[in-house]
Parts: sequence; C-alpha cells; structure tokens
Amino acid sequence: MEHKPIPHVLIFPFPAQGHINSMLKLAELLCLSGLHVTFLNTEFIHLRLHRFADVETRFGIFPGFRFETISDGLPADHSRSFNSISDLIHSVKTFIEPTFRKLLIPDRLKSEDRPPVTCIIADGVLSFTIDVAEAIEVPCILWRTPSACYFWSTFFISEMIAAGELPFNDDEMDKAITSVPGMENFLRSRDLPSFCRAKELNDPGLQLILTETINSTRATAHILNTFEDLEGPILSQLRAYIPKLYTLGPLHALLNSRRKIASQPPTSSNSLLEIDRSCMTWLDQQPSKSVVYFSFGSVVFMSHAQMIEFWYGLVNSGKRFLWVLRPDSIPVKTSDFQVPEELKLATKERGYIVDWSPQEEVLVHPAVGGFFTHSGWNSTLESMVAGLPMVCWPQFADQPINSRYVSEVWKIGFDMKDTCDRSIVAKLIRDMMDDKREELVVSVNRIAEQASKCVSEGGTSNRNLDLLIEDIKAMS
Ligand code: UDX
Repeated sequence: MEHKPIPHVLIFPFPAQGHINSMLKLAELLCLSGLHVTFLNTEFIHLRLHRFADVETRFGIFPGFRFETISDGLPADHSRSFNSISDLIHSVKTFIEPTFRKLLIPDRLKSEDRPPVTCIIADGVLSFTIDVAEAIEVPCILWRTPSACYFWSTFFISEMIAAGELPFNDDEMDKAITSVPGMENFLRSRDLPSFCRAKELNDPGLQLILTETINSTRATAHILNTFEDLEGPILSQLRAYIPKLYTLGPLHALLNSRRKIASQPPTSSNSLLEIDRSCMTWLDQQPSKSVVYFSFGSVVFMSHAQMIEFWYGLVNSGKRFLWVLRPDSIPVKTSDFQVPEELKLATKERGYIVDWSPQEEVLVHPAVGGFFTHSGWNSTLESMVAGLPMVCWPQFADQPINSRYVSEVWKIGFDMKDTCDRSIVAKLIRDMMDDKREELVVSVNRIAEQASKCVSEGGTSNRNLDLLIEDIKAMS
C-alpha cells in the first residue's frame, strides 16, 4: 500500500503576544495529531519565547516540530511595543514580506530531514502569504486571532462609508450603525473596531483593514478562535463570504482537552514576558471569589492620570484585587509620576501587583471572582471558560466590538469604554462582584458550559479540528 507523506504545515503569526499565544496553541494541536509543523517567528519574538516560555520542553517531545526565524529588519534596541506599531506594520511590508517570499520560493523550506511545506497557515493580517502560497502551489489557510463579530464588521466598511456612517465626529459616538447585518439593534459608532475612528477615509489603518479583508477572501480557508454556540448567527452569515471556515474555539480549552487525552500536563506558557508566579501564592490566601483580576493584556497602555483613576476605583470598591501592571503600560512618565500614599497602603492591605501573571491559571483560581479587562479576544474567551463576569475597558482593534457583545449580546459584563473615572470603576466593580452578580454569573456559566461541550469529544470545535487535519492531509 502506498503511504501518503506526512503533511508539513508552516505556521506564521503576526509578531505580537495575542497572536503568538493562540497560534502556538494551534501548532501544538497539529503536532498532537502527528503533522510536521514549522513555526516561523521573528528573531525578536523567538528570543523572548525561549527566555520566558516553556516552549523547548513542550515542543521538544514532537520530532516533527521546529522553529524557524526571520529578521523583522528593526534595530535590536527597538521596543516593538504597541506605541510603535506603525514601525512593525511598515517592517512587515518592506522587510518581512520579501524575506518570507525568498524563504519559500522555490524550495518550500525543503531540507534533508523534512519534506517541503505542503500548507501555510498564516495570520489573518498577513494576506501577502496567499500570493506566496499560490506561487508554490500549496493551500493557504488564514488564522483569525480576533472574534467573528469583529471580522464580520470589517466586511461592511464600504457600506458604512456609502451610508455616511464613516467617518464620524466625536459628537456622533452614540449614533446607531445600521450597515452591519445582524448588529442593527445595538451597534453604535463607538463600538466599531478602533480604526473606524479615523477622521479621514484615506487613513492608512482603515485602508489596511479594508484591503486585508478583501484580500483574505482569496485564502483556501479560514480558522476562527470562536465556537458555534457563541457566535452562530454571525458565523452562518460569514460563511456566505468565506465558505470554508473552521471554528476551533476556545482554542486554549480545546488544547487542554486534547492534552488530557495525550496525557500531557494541562498548563503551559507562551509568554513573551517574565511571569511572576508569586501572585498564585497570594491568591491561595484569599477567600473564594473575592478577588478582582485586573489586566489589560500585552499592548494596551494608559496615562498616569488614568492609572490613578483605576487605582482609586479599585481601592474604593472595597474589593481585593490582583493587578497586572506591565512596566510599559504607562509609556509617558511625567515629572509628577507618583502614587499617593493612601493607595499604596490600601494595596498592601488587600491588593497585589505584578508585571505579568500566568493569566490562564489566575482566571481559574477559586479566589478570583471577576475580570477587569481590555476585551482582547484571548482574554475574553479565557474569562468565559473560567465562568467569570467582566468589566471592560476596550482600546484597540476588535476590543470595542468585543466589549459591546459582552455587555449587550452575551450579557456577561459591563462596558465602560471611553470613560475612566474612579467612581464608575468602583461602581462597576461592585456591580460585577455583588449587586448585579447573579444575572451575569448565570449567563457566563451557561456560556462556559457551551464552550466546554464544543471542545469535548463530539463537540463542534473538536470535530472541526479533525476535519481541518483531514483536509490538510487531503490537500497535501
Ligand atoms: C491583541 C489584541 O489587543 C486583541 O484585541 C486581539 O484580539 C488579539 O491580539 P492582547 O491585547 O495582548 O492581544 O490581548 P489578548 O487577546 O487578551 O491576549 C493576551 C494574552 O496574554 C492572553 O492569552 C493572556 O492569557 C495573556 N496574558 C495576559 C498573560 O499570560 N499574562 C498577563 O499578565 C496578561
């Protein structure tokens, strides 16, 4: 009998924490299914992953796995933080894109010990990979890090422009948006993805998303980190534009379910920053469901004045709190950058601050009762799986629409976008932890149950993973 060669998948993420985290999980899932996987990192990300994450031990057990690196063309001392995202986007266009071409064309990464690449799975914002895949005649599947509701909204930018809904002025933030099918009843200008706040239609960010969305429809298929029970109505509309669409979410829960079958340990880290585990010991000493976990992911930043508002809000809520305050969260440090003594004292009594936490573990710790989040999609899914209600302070990209869904559609939290006031922070925390907790918890527990079913044997995300692997084998 003739044996088909094992497929060799090249995974290529956008070089940022939220993207690396989920795409490494996808890589692990494909390895667990016996595929050859090459994970392509920029050198900067690769160094950080090897310094702070347990990738060597975790991936060392898979003989078919390897990392490959390329340069991003930025100087070694460049921060690559969100502050300088335009540099990163520029480097993708001018440096990463041609380097990627040279790497793949014509030999498809063929080497003595492994077959050439037979399938590319690239980040949804790197649509140039479709052209490269076409040139080497392999399929290109796009991985979407954000939510389906975000992706769906990006298909209607032209309609919003034609209807005069884009661009909008600062005094039109609460105006209803009616051009995105299925969202007519609750979407306002302020809930649109952040690049829609551009004042000019030729804004580079807006134009980039517009062209990336159109280009992405040429991909062989798309994978979304969501689940049918959560975003079913949007997914069925989306399939009219993207017929081949696999939902594998919540991906971290799907990975845990597959690891269990393979007798692998459930936790792992894909962190690009050093994790401070001392917060787990602190959590162990706190009563059940008493702690608010406060974290804005890897890229959101704030001003010193906003930090102080949040801090007073947390303290005045009277609740215990664990706060992830990344060293780069406050990029501009003014001369009056000081923290009032009363805040320091109250934090000593009932708070704990770290630079970076093992978030997935924190969220399922019994002491944690709620999540104050920036509504990054990974954080949102992790909160749902942990059955935690949320208060949302969204800033970039998909976050403003995610938070609208959290509050208005799924009804599992409160959206405080575009405000930053200590009294609102304190009130919403008390609502989440006490006054309005019951209704939120009923909804979030129902979603947690649905998520758990989706990733278990026979569930949609679980089956879709098998289907994806079969399809990759058939296309190889
Ligand atoms: C970015 C975008 O902002 C987000 O909107 C998009 O959906 C994905 O890419 P980020 O802002 O970092 O990501 O947020 P998020 O998607 O929530 O991802 C952050 C990840 O870092 C999560 O998986 C979280 O578990 C992890 N994390 C966060 C830690 O491990 N420790 C921390 O202290 C904070």
